[in-house]
Amino acid sequence: MKITVNQEKKLFKLDTPKTSLVLGLADGKYLGQLYYGRRVRSMNFADLWHTEEYPGTPESAAREEGKFEDVFAYEYPASNNGNFNETCLSVSRPAIHENGHGTSEILVKPTFDSFEILNGKPDLEGLPHTFGDESSVQSLKIVLRDVNEKIRVELLYSAFADTDVITKSVKIVNEGEGVIYLNKALSACMTLNANPEERFEVLTLHGAWARERHMERVELGFGAFSRESYRGVSGHQENPFMALLSRGTTCDSGEVYAMHFVYSGNFLAKAIKNQFSQVRMVMGIHPEHFRWKLSSGESFQTPEVVMTYSASGLSEMTRSLHTLYRNHLIRGFYKDRRRPILINNWEATYFDFDSEKLQAIAEEAAKSGIEMLVMDDGWFGHRNGDDSSLGDWYVNEAKLTGGLKPLVDAVNKAGLKFGIWFEPENISPDSDVYRAHPDWVYQYPESTPVMVRHEYTADFCNPEVTEYVYSRLKAVLESANVEYVKWDMNRPITEGHSLFLPPDRQGEVLHRHILAVYAMQERLLKDFPQLLLENCTAGGGRFDPGMLYYSPQFWCSDDTDAVERLAIQEGTQLLYPLSTIGAHVSDVPNHTVGRVTPFATRGLVAMGGTFGYELDITKISDEDRAQIPVQVKLMKEFSELIRTGEYYRLASYRENNVYDSYMVVSNEKNHAVVFVVQVLSQPNEKSHILKLKGLKEEATYEVREVSVANGSKRLWGTYSGDVLMYAGLIVAREMADFTGLCLELTEIL
Ligand code: GLA
Repeated sequence: MKITVNQEKKLFKLDTPKTSLVLGLADGKYLGQLYYGRRVRSMNFADLWHTEEYPGTPESAAREEGKFEDVFAYEYPASNNGNFNETCLSVSRPAIHENGHGTSEILVKPTFDSFEILNGKPDLEGLPHTFGDESSVQSLKIVLRDVNEKIRVELLYSAFADTDVITKSVKIVNEGEGVIYLNKALSACMTLNANPEERFEVLTLHGAWARERHMERVELGFGAFSRESYRGVSGHQENPFMALLSRGTTCDSGEVYAMHFVYSGNFLAKAIKNQFSQVRMVMGIHPEHFRWKLSSGESFQTPEVVMTYSASGLSEMTRSLHTLYRNHLIRGFYKDRRRPILINNWEATYFDFDSEKLQAIAEEAAKSGIEMLVMDDGWFGHRNGDDSSLGDWYVNEAKLTGGLKPLVDAVNKAGLKFGIWFEPENISPDSDVYRAHPDWVYQYPESTPVMVRHEYTADFCNPEVTEYVYSRLKAVLESANVEYVKWDMNRPITEGHSLFLPPDRQGEVLHRHILAVYAMQERLLKDFPQLLLENCTAGGGRFDPGMLYYSPQFWCSDDTDAVERLAIQEGTQLLYPLSTIGAHVSDVPNHTVGRVTPFATRGLVAMGGTFGYELDITKISDEDRAQIPVQVKLMKEFSELIRTGEYYRLASYRENNVYDSYMVVSNEKNHAVVFVVQVLSQPNEKSHILKLKGLKEEATYEVREVSVANGSKRLWGTYSGDVLMYAGLIVAREMADFTGLCLELTEIL
């Protein structure tokens, strides 16, 4: 990575291994994006401003300043006074109107003030952020100022050395005397000066509970296309991601410009094609339900956006993001460690369990090499269904005889670690805590909050509430040897209103909530540095890069069906490393869709993630149980490869309606594993040709079929890398539905 500056022309060039971003000043003061794309050597881009011709800059064509505003590729477009394309910043001041007090939007036009190059990357206080030392990242801070309104805008860019990523974030400082309100403060903007014949598609991830992160591509026409969440969480319905693709982009060809938001609350991702075919993409905290008060001297830091460009298709975008998240976002004890293979009792028992049942599950699991028991929902208060006790974080001794410690000790004695479930952000109306403090949940005055899953959301803007919740979490974790926490959040936030905050701060509630969640998770990790934290939001409703800063893995979806998981995991793998994807083998008929699939196929699908079980191991058939030690052993063998290797998508069931396949190749390219699931058997179909990817052309590989049912490894043959990649392997069609195939490739030296 390298940041170069042409002092005289005020041009800035940020390079990653294969990309460049070039910024410059028009008329010496308006900061704009000159170029983003493949890496270029020179930064002699000044002519691209069209200073001599239409539309001109304000200095060269004063008569048509409006036209400049309309087309200029502003890096951080502020107030809309001629800039009819999407803006990033809107500010108000208190004002007295005819009908009383209110606020008025003010004109903010920040222009260039100064810049600074920083080795490494500064932390974004209180927010999750990517990081790196001086050898892996360099940063550029550009300061813009509106001298009339005394507002300072600090744009922070960081370019990485080991991945084609540039991050962007913004800090707004009130340098004036009075109060200002930020109505909108997005984090990033990118404008492509495209020609009319260049057509773009927009790729996003949409979903629902149990159907998270399905990929969708649409052609971008004139006008705007957005993905957004107002749910207080990033959401099952949307992921804070957007990519512009040159028309017809595939896994391996085409141009991709992507943005991904390191944030876990409301967001806006928007692409706009204007009348000149320029395409702008913006991302940031959603301006709806947002208004942040800044007194004199105060500042607001936006979360950061990860920006990546690929000249060779989607796979390269995926690998750039995976590298970034593995090396520069995930932290802590488990960053580079194999995660324990766990068994979770949710689908095994739901709320109907006691110490004996859990102990029996742990003892049986130990025989198969499973390494951790997770006690899910239902261990506290008087919770025997989802209608009570959230907030009463005291062990229910009617279920756990003698409390938590005897159970944890017994599980540890059986050879397993112990993990526990919490839902810290919500409170049940039927709880002692709610009866004592009805004002501790978000609500509008004189109105009852909307109930979702029998829950209200705890007012995390009120420090008394967060102190109470944290003290209970801590007390439980200190009472026994708990080594894992599943942090759940089973509802969106329906009331962005806190009884604790004054009226002019109600627009801060939803962002403050997320900041408080981050602060509490940070505290948890400081107090328990070896804790494995797994986030979860009714499945995968807040699976975003923000959460990865605190938890190296995330429960991917409540839908554990092996077929449904194919599209869910494909969409998730598109952005997130496989080591972050919580994937478990569950019982059949599947509890969400009722489908019956073979145990081996369920195991094979779960291997594309953190791997574990979600079933009553004491009750499943002997035949299925016998496969567990086989799967556990294989997963232990493959987990390093899956955690650190490069991911390549080979086929998508979503697209071909027959089968799904991907592979993971080690960084040395000497070891790989290929997974194939044939979903439906089709009549009169020929065999599939599987063209592998990411191998060394000249290397020779032994290809073995690995049985996920009995662990045997049968040699298929020995082939060169180029034959495997360009001619491919024939995978015979199976005369059955839901079959799985696992191949292991080992280089022969
Ligand atoms: C959510 C989670 C499940 C489970 C339940 C418990 O739905 O996604 O895995 O923990 O809550 O209520």
